[in-house]
Amino acid sequence: MTEDLISLAGQISVVTGAASGIGRASAILLARRGAHVIALDVNETGLKSVVDEIKSSGASAAYHLFDLGSEENVRQRIKAIEKEHGRIDSVVNAGGITGPTGMQTEDITWEQFLKPLTIDLFGAIWITQAVMPLMKERKYGRIVQVVSIAGKEGNPGMSPYNTAKAGLIGYVKGVAKEAAASGVVINSLAPAVIRTAINENTTEDTMKYMISRIPMGRIGESEEVAEMIAFMASPACSFTTGFTFDISGGRATY
Ligand SMILES: NC(=O)c1ccc[n+]([C@@H]2O[C@H](COP(=O)([O-])OP(=O)(O)OC[C@H]3O[C@@H](n4cnc5c(N)ncnc54)[C@H](O)[C@@H]3O)[C@@H](O)[C@H]2O)c1
Repeated sequence: MTEDLISLAGQISVVTGAASGIGRASAILLARRGAHVIALDVNETGLKSVVDEIKSSGASAAYHLFDLGSEENVRQRIKAIEKEHGRIDSVVNAGGITGPTGMQTEDITWEQFLKPLTIDLFGAIWITQAVMPLMKERKYGRIVQVVSIAGKEGNPGMSPYNTAKAGLIGYVKGVAKEAAASGVVINSLAPAVIRTAINENTTEDTMKYMISRIPMGRIGESEEVAEMIAFMASPACSFTTGFTFDISGGRATY
């Protein structure tokens, strides 16, 4: 019988941002494919809700409060998961914020600039650094960083977010090459606009701009993004590393 390479049976998968949107849909799909999902987020109500939903379907999950913006918290949590389970097979890093939108770069304070950089870029680096040693030792790992079309093309009015996501795309490319022969695969996924809470405070002009650039003429759904993520987090994603996968309704065909 052919091995089912998208199965995650017996695997430990860590999902950040699991309380909402893309992270939530990914946690549910990864659990459905057989993983024990460890859901992490700053939002406890959302965490509880996703874990309840996973468990009620007969799949397996647990949650911990977790802040991507705290290096100490990121490193300690990963260490604790490794201690408890002896392994982490995959990490889906879907936690994040947009920071200021609809603002000229010169009007953004340094404090406003640093927040998305800390959560979206530094947090992603800390979690990668934290999981890499044991993944390399076990000669297996899948790391999925959710970036954004904003990091490839730059959305006007969102310079901190563009910077964080572009930085993360570059980080993934180089780390992937470092780890290429180790069994650890790391890739990015760049969505265009997806229907999630993150867009609730995005200005109408920015939303219109983003949707107008999508040839399919519609917003994407979290479940569609989760399908790509579940592949990237599985043994099936075995000969692609350092890549920025696209989920943009045809906006980015490169
Ligand atoms: N929705 C879109 O249009 C879109 C487009 C491109 C990229 N993305 C990216 O997708 C990822 C997921 O976003 P989403 O659209 O699902 O939004 P969302 O707001 O629904 O989910 C983001 C989650 O991240 C969590 N989070 C925020 N700060 C955190 C922190 N410091 N530590 C841990 N968790 C934190 C939130 O609590 C929330 O549950 C983000 O990286 C976002 O930049 C989203």
